[in-house]
Amino acid sequence: MEKEFVVGVTGASGIVYARRLLEVLCDRARVHIVVSDVARQIAGIEGVDLAGFDAVYAENSNLAADIASGSFRYDAMAIVPCSMKTLSAVSRGFADTLITRSADVCLKERRPLILLVREMPLSRIHLKNMLAADEAGATVMVASPPFYQRPETIDDLVDMVVARVLDHLGVVDHGLGMRWSG
Ligand SMILES: Cc1cc2nc3c(=O)[nH]c(=O)nc-3n(C[C@H](O)[C@H](O)[C@H](O)COP(=O)(O)O)c2cc1C
Repeated sequence: MEKEFVVGVTGASGIVYARRLLEVLCDRARVHIVVSDVARQIAGIEGVDLAGFDAVYAENSNLAADIASGSFRYDAMAIVPCSMKTLSAVSRGFADTLITRSADVCLKERRPLILLVREMPLSRIHLKNMLAADEAGATVMVASPPFYQRPETIDDLVDMVVARVLDHLGVVDHGLGMRWSG
């Protein structure tokens, strides 16, 4: 059966991570995309286009969308990138948007939820929220690419981060980056 995922895009720098994730995911699975208002703004600033994917686009304000309900089945959700504000909402169960509600559903339904956070430096509040999210069952990933495979382009760096997100979504045949073989 075809896999089904939710991808939330929130207002942190690094919208290109979402674009690359969607390029791979939409070819392999049914995908629901929800973009926050600020993420849309930052996408403009960073020159990244999130339109045109073969996917279901839902409004972040639409709390009556299918993915807002635990009775609607999907395999996993990733918030890429995840702002500190959205991290805060998710880690406290403050589900007032479609992205935060769908994340809340993942936690209560025990489905994989990946938060690709980005901020620097991190306050104690951010760190505590990451711990709370982890304790609630989310996987907190940091948009921090490795350098041991000698990346040559920004795309290489992006791919190495997105590869790990895909791995954690259970999509392992992505071919992004290189796997360390010793
Ligand atoms: C250009 C720009 C870059 C931003 N980068 C970040 C960031 O990297 N991390 C972060 O946590 N917030 C960042 N913010 C602030 C968030 O967008 C802001 O807290 C917003 O309320 C997040 O809302 P959302 O999570 O609903 O998208 C940025 C804002 C702007 C305008």
